[in-house]
Amino acid sequence: MRNKFLAVFERIREELVVHMKSEKMPEDAIAWFNENLIYNVPGGKLNRGISVVDTVAILLNRPPTEDEYFKAALLGWCIELLQAFFLVSDDMMDGSISRRGQPCWYRVSDVKGLGKVHNVAVNDSCMLEGAIYHILKNHFRCESYYVDLLELFQEVTYKTEMGQLVDQITAPESNVDIRKYTLPKHTFIVRYKTAYYSFYLSVALAMRMCGVPDVYELDGKTVEPYKEADRILIPMGEFFQVQDDYLDYHGTEAQIGKIGTDIVDGKCSWCVCTALTSGTEVQKQLLYENYGKRGANQAVKEQAVKDMYNDEQGLNVPKRYDEYSKNTVAEINAMIELVPEPGAQDELRGDRLRRDVFRAFLSKIIDRTA
Ligand code: IPE
Ligand code: MN
Ligand code: MN
Repeated sequence: MRNKFLAVFERIREELVVHMKSEKMPEDAIAWFNENLIYNVPGGKLNRGISVVDTVAILLNRPPTEDEYFKAALLGWCIELLQAFFLVSDDMMDGSISRRGQPCWYRVSDVKGLGKVHNVAVNDSCMLEGAIYHILKNHFRCESYYVDLLELFQEVTYKTEMGQLVDQITAPESNVDIRKYTLPKHTFIVRYKTAYYSFYLSVALAMRMCGVPDVYELDGKTVEPYKEADRILIPMGEFFQVQDDYLDYHGTEAQIGKIGTDIVDGKCSWCVCTALTSGTEVQKQLLYENYGKRGANQAVKEQAVKDMYNDEQGLNVPKRYDEYSKNTVAEINAMIELVPEPGAQDELRGDRLRRDVFRAFLSKIIDRTA
């Protein structure tokens, strides 16, 4: 499964390199871009990308043909390129150390003897985004749904950037003010910065590829399948980012492939919002003094916050997280049951939304530890 999907990445990489050669790009620049692709695109869990392929198979209700598989995998890799674009810049903005078990790209000091990266990583991230539209044009220009794909990528990218803006200015590098942090504020940030591109995009792209229309009738009722997808997948993406926030403090580097920076960065994370909502005055005071503090004692302060989160007699964030997760999975499952399912006469259609699309996606993230 994963290997078949990875094989498509090799084709994309080659295609991008061949194109650069046709543009008469110098050899060292081609080698640089090639390294950028290899280092930043395929090393993650590939959940988002593989979900396009899985969703297409569920919608079609039969195994995809080779051409259908290839097209779905191309769209999947375009999401992985988008993700790589966001992560390279996110790591610079968050001052992160490692990602996917290796140093963040902006910290790689030498690319195959070609010199330092550092701020060139800004342009490298932009080029990962540019590659998306090159691939889409090469492979989908003649499809009736080409404009829908372009719109989806462009709109979801913009939404993610809005989320990143709020994420960043909510936790400014100097004088973080966690008194403003609330769970609704957190919900807003994570829907925009994570949910659209990590959940809605995969399913909506697959739906466009399969020709799912904007509106259809089912048993005399009007269905708006993209609104249904939004209704389920945005809360699912919110849940995913809560998991990310929890793992940032509770996961080990070996587990999550990165070193958490949320406490030191003063991020408006689910953990701190929960602590501020449910904590005692004494616990909140400890946060005011230790959360979002860079400088000489930052490790001690960070540890004080972690100890308070972990206190089984006190805040017990792990217990609250387990409760939150159980309740949220139950809520999302209940929402999935409300999605109109194609009846017997539409059983064989490949262009109707199905509940299994959401069930498959949810099962990939339940109880995740990485
Ligand atoms: C960033 O969220 C979301 C995007 C990259 C758009 P985080 O800042 O929490 O992501 P990690 O923890 O660095 O992966
Ligand atoms: Mn980050
Ligand atoms: Mn995070």
